[in-house]
Amino acid sequence: MTNQEERIRTAAEFIKKSKYLVTFTGAGVSVESGVPAFRGQGGLWTKYDPKVLDIDYFMKFPEKSWPVIIEIFYQYMGKAKPNAAHLILAKWEKKGLLQMIITQNIDNLHYEAGNRNIIEFHGNTRNLICLECRKIYKVDKNLLENIPPRCSVCKSILKPDFVFFGEAIPTEAYSASIQAAQKCDVLIVIGTTGEVMPANLIPGLAKNNGARIIEINPHISEHTQVVTDVFLPIKASEAMMALDEAIYSSSVE
Ligand code: APR
Repeated sequence: MTNQEERIRTAAEFIKKSKYLVTFTGAGVSVESGVPAFRGQGGLWTKYDPKVLDIDYFMKFPEKSWPVIIEIFYQYMGKAKPNAAHLILAKWEKKGLLQMIITQNIDNLHYEAGNRNIIEFHGNTRNLICLECRKIYKVDKNLLENIPPRCSVCKSILKPDFVFFGEAIPTEAYSASIQAAQKCDVLIVIGTTGEVMPANLIPGLAKNNGARIIEINPHISEHTQVVTDVFLPIKASEAMMALDEAIYSSSVE
């Protein structure tokens, strides 16, 4: 058995025996769906300036932020479809193996794959919100025709209803994530550098409450040396297919 096979087997055994399995995902889980990650080679922040998503900058210069927001979040992501990693997570939820996904992603791909127990830590791209009267709009083509989009009621600027740099995490998502992290006995961390606070506190919280941490990432992250028990240094789809095979084949069942 190679080292890799051994790690897959160990991880599969942890997952199989888990009582409350949670997955914590970042941009890496969607890379194979064609959604670029934020950091690292080819990452969005090598091409764009992250200040477009800074709340203070957005409030001052919405006409500068909006075209970039459209390009990144409504063109790239709009066309993406779930990949094998998303689909296996959906299968595991249906089978009762996976209890919850905490995702930093706003691309909706876990939902599209079929998962329903999802905490969207950074919100989602589905809605826009009026910064003045807080009216919520479902995103559609017409709404994004005139940039920056404005509220039909008070004419103020609309902002995507996901979390910008400098904004607080929605209270409900935050407390649900803390609860899930404290409750899980196994946490699978997929495709995150662990550089963004406070989301990056979740693996440590789970670990401190006794959970085993399985990490899937072709590169080491901020979490790897600190909390990870089993590190699978491969792509999300490859790792998830190998785990699924190991879990549902007779050898571990
Ligand atoms: N499978 C698994 N992991 C992958 C893959 C893949 N195919 N490809 C890349 N990765 C890994 C990278 O090695 C990297 O560690 O995914 C990670 C992506 O990291 P980031 O781009 O930093 O994404 P994330 O950690 O989710 O970012 C957190 O930053 O800008 C904000 O709000 C945004 O939610 C986002 C937050």
